[in-house]
Amino acid sequence: MDPQLIAEFRRRFRAAPSHVVRAPGRVNLIGGHIDYHGLPVLPVALDRDVRLLFRPRTDGVVRAQTCAAGLAGASFELATRIPSAELGDWSNYVRGAAQSMVLERGVDRGLDLLVNSTLPMAVGLSSSSALAVAASLALARVNDLELDRVEFAGQMAVAERYVGTQGGGMDQAVCLLALAGHAVYVEFLPLTVRPIALPSDLRVVVAHSLERVEKSGVARAAYNDRRRNGELALALVASHLGLAPNTSYGELINQGDIARQAAAQVLSGSAAGCFRHVVSEARRVAEAVAALESGDLVTLGGLMDASHESLRENLEVSTPALDELVAVARRAGALGCRLTGAGFGGSAVALVAADRVDDVYAALAKEYYQPRGVADPVSAGSLFTCRASGAATVETLG
Ligand code: GLA
Repeated sequence: MDPQLIAEFRRRFRAAPSHVVRAPGRVNLIGGHIDYHGLPVLPVALDRDVRLLFRPRTDGVVRAQTCAAGLAGASFELATRIPSAELGDWSNYVRGAAQSMVLERGVDRGLDLLVNSTLPMAVGLSSSSALAVAASLALARVNDLELDRVEFAGQMAVAERYVGTQGGGMDQAVCLLALAGHAVYVEFLPLTVRPIALPSDLRVVVAHSLERVEKSGVARAAYNDRRRNGELALALVASHLGLAPNTSYGELINQGDIARQAAAQVLSGSAAGCFRHVVSEARRVAEAVAALESGDLVTLGGLMDASHESLRENLEVSTPALDELVAVARRAGALGCRLTGAGFGGSAVALVAADRVDDVYAALAKEYYQPRGVADPVSAGSLFTCRASGAATVETLG
């Protein structure tokens, strides 16, 4: 553990930390904006994480600090209703996690915690879910709780809605259940995960568009809007077909062509676009899993490209900057490239054969980053290659 970080903890809390949690961020290779409709997705945990040092307290107070420049700390009491800080404040992820741990697990012992992230924040790589998961794991440890991680991932997906974004469960599932060297096929209702090995000559390249995306800030309304439109589309099509009002997208998709025909009759505008995206993305995820399992990376890449097109055209969650980033990566030889996370800015993920990574880096630097004033995107941290990492860990400090 970095001695400087331990010294920083001591400086702030006048005592040594007892544990550190590492919780990874993620990219989703495919399966954009369908987890909240209960449909499967295929994320990868990043080898960049939120690190959270902590020590137990004897009372029910949580004192939360971060090493991130310019961000104030927070202090609050564990309670069934923890008041939130202002919209967009980082501590809301800790508050939401703590409130859920009180409500669902009855925790009453607080902690002092210090966050230091190797994962960039607000760039679509799920630093927020990693932070919420890390804070909950820390609270579980100081309260001597054993957790079933599958059940816990479901709890955390709900917990994070404290910040007002009606997210799905992908980020929390991959953060808590990933296996190193593997992508994770995540199914919902009920939550199950299946690791799928990534070929050793394949690289996962992550490129930030340079547009920030705050999940609890401006992207929140746009994100919730997509979810609502998708639910509205589902309800209209199900009702047209005389199906039960609580029919899921999975059940509707199983109806095949009848559902598509019904959608063409009853949907228009953004609801029609959402429906087209959800149904086609579900099919692409299934095909992508088959392609990855059979080593057909060209097909997998093509499906990622098609996913981006649908997110852009049907769901309208891309931006001109992301579209350009994706186009440059593809032209330079990426097997496939798409926006990752919620969109509205943030990052793109590309799958690249190991021997083409230099070409893709060079093209992105020259055509995307340098014209935007970033001479060396790798040292700026905007462009990197990640290894698929394992799930979040809690470690005792010696
Ligand atoms: C965010 C949410 C996820 C998922 C993605 C879009 O990351 O937290 O649940 O919906 O957007 O795929």
